[in-house]
Amino acid sequence: MNATEKLIIFDTTLRDGEQSPGASMTKDEKVRIAKSLERMRVDVIEAGFPIASPGDFESVQAVARSIKDSTVCGLARALDKDIDRAGEALKPAKSGRIHTFIATSPIHMQAKLRMQPEQVLEQAVRAVKRAREYTDNVEFSPEDAGRSEIDFLCRIIEAVIDAGANTINIPDTVGYNIPQQFGELIRQLIERVPNSDKAVFSVHCHNDLGLAVSNSLASVLNGARQVECTINGLGERAGNASLEEVVMAVRTRQDFFTCDTTLDTTQIVPCSRLVAGITGFPVQPNKAIVGANAFAHESGIHQDGVLKSRETYEIMRAQDVGWSDNRMVLGKHSGRNAFRSRAQELGVEFASEEDLNETFSRFKDLADKKHEIFDEDIQALITETGFSAENEHYKLVSLKVCSETGETPNASITLLADGAEKHGSASGGGPVDAAFKAIEMIAESNAQLQLYSVNNITSGTDSQGEVTVRLEKAGRIVNGQGADTDIVIASANAYVNALNKLITPARRAHPQLGDV
Ligand code: KIV
Ligand code: ZN
Repeated sequence: MNATEKLIIFDTTLRDGEQSPGASMTKDEKVRIAKSLERMRVDVIEAGFPIASPGDFESVQAVARSIKDSTVCGLARALDKDIDRAGEALKPAKSGRIHTFIATSPIHMQAKLRMQPEQVLEQAVRAVKRAREYTDNVEFSPEDAGRSEIDFLCRIIEAVIDAGANTINIPDTVGYNIPQQFGELIRQLIERVPNSDKAVFSVHCHNDLGLAVSNSLASVLNGARQVECTINGLGERAGNASLEEVVMAVRTRQDFFTCDTTLDTTQIVPCSRLVAGITGFPVQPNKAIVGANAFAHESGIHQDGVLKSRETYEIMRAQDVGWSDNRMVLGKHSGRNAFRSRAQELGVEFASEEDLNETFSRFKDLADKKHEIFDEDIQALITETGFSAENEHYKLVSLKVCSETGETPNASITLLADGAEKHGSASGGGPVDAAFKAIEMIAESNAQLQLYSVNNITSGTDSQGEVTVRLEKAGRIVNGQGADTDIVIASANAYVNALNKLITPARRAHPQLGDV
């Protein structure tokens, strides 16, 4: 191994990842993901864009309070009000960073900002100085750097480093660059900016041409020492560089790279599953590292080779990225303390004894139906219970479904709606359709169903089905989760969970659109 330098991993799943249409997360969900990233020893966690909405502010604050071993970062446009809001949200952080940005490409400066380059430079410097009043850890991004003029980039980068920025992040905002070209841009910036040795150079690549990981790696080979990425490659449009691919490429090819991360890669698969479950964005089976088939050998020749010597067809060990046989962790006879401590190991702190009791009672119900309870089951149980969801307007009390060959399925449902029992009954194309219609009879939300997906959590027919329901109403998109060994009940719970989130008010603005 010839690695001498550290490669900083900056995860933006909670910020850019959440900009994937439909991938909204609640505050508690963000804290759970942040804890999973902390367990993986991610260096910097970008927790959100505090000015965007009160919900975003609270989420960044909650992550800042809960995370001790990673730096927590908040995004801010190069505006006083954004920076002040980010500074405020990050106050509880043990280690906090403000990430401020302004566009530098001709098209963005002219068409979006309607500003002259000199004004942009002045605003960037002012923003960095203001951010330094809150923290000595300040990152600056010239947005759309991948389409900016290099002379102007050099000038603005030199000025913001002088103003106190210690990380310079070069975004390929629209995913337009090609690896050789982007790597060369990084090399030239580091070479030409006179004070470049005073900052860490970072990259943030989007995947519009499928090149986000390649562009990131080309940059690392040319001197970048921070990569911004997301779990499962989540992110705006086609997504960001996928954390697992960047990290494992550098780790696996230590003969080639002169730097390495300090991540615990065995946490990659559990974190990927958590993010997929919460966001409702499933991982494609052939996705590198975290796809279900990433280590599966189908052809006889490959199987034979791997049996004789693993290295014939495998360049990484499945267990090094966290693929392990499902480990039975708890069972029917496990007590409340064992359950609490396993949940804690998974990064879950119960807000109150009541929350613990409710989740534990659901665990006992599950243990009656299913002999062996795995970590994945516990994660799903907690995701679904939404134990600390502030606004639980609806709760499923009972569901009866009749489904018979040749007959139209019918569902009768009882919900607790703001404390009062309400009943609904409806027929549908199938039992799930009937159950959703029965819920709608009561809730009358008129929301549009955008996605319905079912995944088995573990193997076997007694596995829990994990259901995601995505609802949209008036432009707002939410994901609801449900898990149960009975998939119709899991589906009804997922629908109810989504309705509860839809009722919770939220207003979010988009960092790149300047609509705050
Ligand atoms: O893609 C982008 O340019 C961004 C910036 C805010 C860094 O997400
Ligand atoms: Zn981005």
